[in-house]
Amino acid sequence: MKDEYIKKEPKTKEEIEKILKKYPAPKKLVLPKGSDVKTVDKLFSDIQMARLALLKQIIKKQKNDNVRKSLLLMFSGQVTRVNLTYHASSYVKTENGGNAAAFQYYRYRIAPVPKDVDFVKTFELRYKKVIAAKKEMEYFINDKTISNVQILKGTAVDLSFLHNESVDYIYTDPPYGKKIPYLDLSMMWNAWLDLDVTEQDYELEAIEGGEHHKSKSDYSNLISKSIKEMYRVLKFDRWLSFVFAHKDPEFWHLIIDTAENCGFEYVGAVPQKNGQTSFKKRQNPFTVLSGQLIINFRKVRNPTAVMKANLGMNISDIVMQTIEGIIAKNNGATLEQINDELIIKGLELGFLDLLKKEYSDLTPLLLTSFDYDEQTEIFSIRKNKKFRTTVDLKLRIRYYLVSYLRRMEKERKTSNFDDIVLEIMPLLKNGITPENQTILSVLKDIADEVGSNGWKLKQDGQLSLVGCADINDN
Ligand SMILES: C[S@@+](CC[C@H](N)C(=O)[O-])C[C@H]1O[C@@H](n2cnc3c(N)ncnc32)[C@H](O)[C@@H]1O
Repeated sequence: MKDEYIKKEPKTKEEIEKILKKYPAPKKLVLPKGSDVKTVDKLFSDIQMARLALLKQIIKKQKNDNVRKSLLLMFSGQVTRVNLTYHASSYVKTENGGNAAAFQYYRYRIAPVPKDVDFVKTFELRYKKVIAAKKEMEYFINDKTISNVQILKGTAVDLSFLHNESVDYIYTDPPYGKKIPYLDLSMMWNAWLDLDVTEQDYELEAIEGGEHHKSKSDYSNLISKSIKEMYRVLKFDRWLSFVFAHKDPEFWHLIIDTAENCGFEYVGAVPQKNGQTSFKKRQNPFTVLSGQLIINFRKVRNPTAVMKANLGMNISDIVMQTIEGIIAKNNGATLEQINDELIIKGLELGFLDLLKKEYSDLTPLLLTSFDYDEQTEIFSIRKNKKFRTTVDLKLRIRYYLVSYLRRMEKERKTSNFDDIVLEIMPLLKNGITPENQTILSVLKDIADEVGSNGWKLKQDGQLSLVGCADINDN
């Protein structure tokens, strides 16, 4: 293939014109509104277009279906790098490194100085990467497994091809509201790869906004429907892991609410870092979160919903307490750590619905209350200051105890007093450090001793639905 391409590669104006006449160019699909040019073909110079058209033609000739499709996958990566939106990156300094506008700006922006990559070398690199990926997967996806695998294009909203209670595990990574209009942005690749996107695809896409102006309630409805479908097909006592990175607590509430209404039981949430900071994050350190949370649910016969704990604090105290706790525990915390902690505590203690709008952007609160180090992106306690919280020490202890014991309960563990002290002391340092006796007295208030030196939350009474007027202030 390489030999054939090099032999035919167009260099002169005439050669370019000849190729453009001979081989089909991509469909002139109309690009989304925010784009710098109207149609897909305008995203390429003549030479880029001719080279891509020639390469595609050579790939299309491959008779073996697997080989041809793998080559088209490499070609898709080639399209990403050979177009007028691709430009040098300020942080990836490799020869071919750069950024394509659709991934970076979420719109088709023509680069002021497009990067002209070495076409053959770029394709060779794609080739190496796809081969390396295949090698890595070989152990899991091989001749034996492939005969049982079904990969379907469809919508999570309709899983009618699956029977009730037939699935062992679900791992899902849905779109996060209006962050990325996937179908709108996939136009450039769809055009080259001859992939059809139908009106129905747009209708079923779970996003907010985009070219089809989908509303927040369109998004919520589609996500809710898909959770219901997931519940239907999952076997009992099996797990659903839901990846989510939305900033708006309202969406978190929607997910938990829908999942619980369907009959799922919340089991816990774990932060997952992807190990790299995106361009978006660097550009907007305060509005973009890197990493995400994985929320785990279980489909059980008698699910218990997360109950609102009566913490005796109003929501602003809870927020400040949570932030101070994570900062104290880690000697400083990033926006992501703080956000994750708030969501997790909100999930565990049932105050997610109270975290609404005013806490969807924590930045003003954080910047006025804590020191921020631009280099490390860490918020920490102001020099020579104690924490601001005015919340009574016993209430603060109660807050962490309820949260910790609830988590232990979910994990079906009991904790002894030493474990408990070890867990909550770091969260309270920097304030007035409590005596063990104080912790014990709060513990006795909300938990029962079981066995020898084990502690379990009292079942009702103490932890009934929120009674505090302040907390109910929605
Ligand atoms: C956060 S991304 C997932 C990214 C993926 N995990 C990966 O690493 O490439 C969300 C994906 O959900 C897809 N999506 C949108 N609406 C959908 C629906 N109704 N059913 C299934 N998938 C949908 C989007 O096209 C997008 O690819």
